[in-house]
Amino acid sequence: MDVIRVKDYKELSEQAAKFVLERVKKNPKMILGLATGGTPEGMYEQLVTDHRTAGTSYKQVTTFNLDEYAGLPRKDRNSYYSYMREQLFDHIDIPNDQVHLPNGEAEDWQEECLQYEQAIAEAGQVDVQVLGIGGNGHIGFNEPGTSFDSTTHIVTLDESTRKANARYFSNLDEVPTHALTMGIQTIMRAKEIVLLASGESKADAMARLLQGEADESFPASALLSHPNVTVIADEEALKKVT
Ligand code: F6R
Repeated sequence: MDVIRVKDYKELSEQAAKFVLERVKKNPKMILGLATGGTPEGMYEQLVTDHRTAGTSYKQVTTFNLDEYAGLPRKDRNSYYSYMREQLFDHIDIPNDQVHLPNGEAEDWQEECLQYEQAIAEAGQVDVQVLGIGGNGHIGFNEPGTSFDSTTHIVTLDESTRKANARYFSNLDEVPTHALTMGIQTIMRAKEIVLLASGESKADAMARLLQGEADESFPASALLSHPNVTVIADEEALKKVT
């Protein structure tokens, strides 16, 4: 696991965008795994700016997002679908039919999970998967205790995760209770993974991750056995790493 230590969020966003851009340029037909949340917003902003100014094209790129809230309409401003449109897809040249998120509006969530897993497999291996990390070590919406063998599945969100995400909703009651997420095994099948962490709220999680013990009580620790992981983290996020 390579760790790129950066000063602050601005530098993290620049480094993360550089990481993705290098790979898109090398492989314009790449399959890119994407995350939502606060952490990658700065990276998406950089990618949009680069597209406008340097013209990097995403016409042949295919994307698969990690997760989506279950039961939230896609047009809801808090759906990850809306997030991705606003942060990235509406501002670059990627064709609509090449972007994928689990469909939280599906009538049969189990079936949707199977289909999503199959769609990823049919597209081929994800070349680069971008990840954030929860304060409790979750990746995607894989909460502590999730099997490392899990594939795309439906989860009941941890109270701590709902509280952390309540900042985007009017109140905690509005935060969905379930989500559809790639499983740990799905994530681990990516050829390369880049995990982004910024700020003090991630310091405990980063200390535990980098201490190096794999345990299902800490989902991100599955990454320790992946052959090609880069962590980009700022000083605040790394301040408890000894
Ligand atoms: C989002 C996702 C989550 C977030 C994590 C960190 O698609 O899969 O695992 O990456 O909750 O969220 P932020 O970046 O908001 O701290």
